[in-house]
Amino acid sequence: MQSNTSNEKRRRKVMLVFGTRPEAIKLAPLIKEFERHAERFETIVCVTGQHREMLDQVLDLFKIVPNHDLNIMKQGQDLSDITTRILLELRDVLKMTQPDLVFVHGDTSTSMAAALAAYYQHIPVAHVEAGLRTHNIYSPWPEELNRQITSRIASYNFAPTYLSKENLLKEGVKEEIIAITGNTVIDTLHLIVERIKDNPLLQEEIKKSLLECGLSQEVIDTISVDSQATQLADPARPLVLITGHRRENFGEGFIHICRAIKTLAMKYPEVLFIYPMHLNPNVRKPIQEVFGDHFNPERATSLSNLFFIEPLEYLPFVFLMKQCTLVLTDSGGIQEEAPGLGKPVLVMRDTTERPEGLEAGTVKLVGTNYELIVTEVSRLLEDKDYYNSMSKANNPYGDGKASERIIAFIQ
Ligand code: UD1
Ligand code: UDP
Repeated sequence: MQSNTSNEKRRRKVMLVFGTRPEAIKLAPLIKEFERHAERFETIVCVTGQHREMLDQVLDLFKIVPNHDLNIMKQGQDLSDITTRILLELRDVLKMTQPDLVFVHGDTSTSMAAALAAYYQHIPVAHVEAGLRTHNIYSPWPEELNRQITSRIASYNFAPTYLSKENLLKEGVKEEIIAITGNTVIDTLHLIVERIKDNPLLQEEIKKSLLECGLSQEVIDTISVDSQATQLADPARPLVLITGHRRENFGEGFIHICRAIKTLAMKYPEVLFIYPMHLNPNVRKPIQEVFGDHFNPERATSLSNLFFIEPLEYLPFVFLMKQCTLVLTDSGGIQEEAPGLGKPVLVMRDTTERPEGLEAGTVKLVGTNYELIVTEVSRLLEDKDYYNSMSKANNPYGDGKASERIIAFIQ
C-alpha cells in the first residue's frame, strides 16, 4: 500500500512540567490549547508536586489529570531537596516517555531543575515567561538564578513583553528563538472572570468556599455588594487583600510586614484586611508571633476587621481581587493580575522583574519597610487623587492570547 507521508506524520510529543500553584495557573490555558490541537500534538502533563494542596486546587479547577506526578513535596523542604529530587525522578520519566519538547514555566526550582533534567537527556526546552530579570541573583532568591539558568538551556523563549525580550537579547539569546506572546496568566484571568460573570450559581459556590476558608458570613455579604469601595469616604467597606511568601522576606521581613498590618488594622477599623496565608510554615510563624491568638479565627478576640484565612482556590481569590480596594503582596503573579482589574498593587519587595507595572503607575515597591507600608496604604485609602492615579485598569502583560501565540510559534 502506498504511504501518505503527510497523513502519517507523527504527532509531536510535548511535555509540560510544573509543580507550584502559579505555574499551574499560568500553564493551564496552554495545556487546554495544546489539547485543542490534538491532531498535531500529543500532550503529556508531568507535575513535580513541589506544592501539594495548593497545586491540587488548580488541577481540580481546570480538570487537569497529570500523566506523571513526581510527588516530591515534603514539609520544610529546602532548595537542594527540591532540585535533587526533581533531577532524579524526572530522569526516569523522560527516558520512558521520550518527548520531543519539554515546556517549563517561569522561575521556580521546578522550572530550573526540569529544564536541566531535559537538557541531560538532549531534549529541547521551551521556556514560558522567559526573560524577566532583576539582575540580582539574591532578589528574588532563588528565582532570579533559576530563570537565568533556564534561559541558557532553552531552545524556545516565550517572552511576555518587549522588555523581557530585550533582556534576553542583551544576554546573547538569538532573536529567532524568542517570541513576544504576552503572559499566559492574562489568558487564565480572562477565562475565570468570564466564568464568574453573570453566573449566580458559581458566585454562591465561591462564597461557600470563602466561608470554608475562614471568612464570616457577615464579611462575605459586605464584600459581595456590587459597588466596590475605593476610598474610606465611599459607602461600601474598603478591602485590603494581602499575600506573602518570598523566601528573602522570611524572618525579620515578615515580622515588619505583620507589624505594619497590625498598625493599619487598628488605625482603620472600618477597613477589612484579608490575608489568605501561604502554607509555608515560614510564612505562618511570624503571623503567629505578632498576632498571637488572633492568628486563630476561633479564638480571635480583637481586631474584628482582620482575617487570616487558608489559601484560597483561584476562583475565590480572583473574586476577592475584583472586589478589593488595593492589594498588598510580594507575589509575582498578582503583580500581573491586579492591574488588569484596576487595582493598585503595593509590592513588599525591594526589586521587581516586572517593571512594566511600575512604569504604567499601577504598581509601587514598598519593600518590607514598616513605615512605607503604613504610609502608602494610608495614602491610597485617604487620598482619592492618589488612588485614582494608580487604579487605572491597564494591563501591560497581555491580551489573553498568549497560549495561541505560543502554539502558532512552535507549529
Ligand atoms: C515556591 C517557589 C516560588 C514561587 C512560590 C509560589 C521555589 C524555590 N520557590 O515557593 O518561586 O513563587 O512557590 O507560591 O521554587 N507547602 C505545603 N503545601 C503546599 C505548598 C507548600 O504544605 O501545597 C509548604 C511545605 O511545608 C513546603 C513549603 O510550603 O515545604 C515551601 O514550599 P516551596 O515550594 O519550597 O516554597 P514556596 O515558598 O512555596
Ligand atoms: N492565588 C490563589 N489563592 C491565594 C493566593 C494567590 O489562587 O490564596 C493565585 C494568584 O491569583 C496568582 C498566584 O496564585 O495567580 C500567585 O501565586 P503566588 O503568589 O504563590 O506565587 P508567585 O506568583 O509569586 O510565584
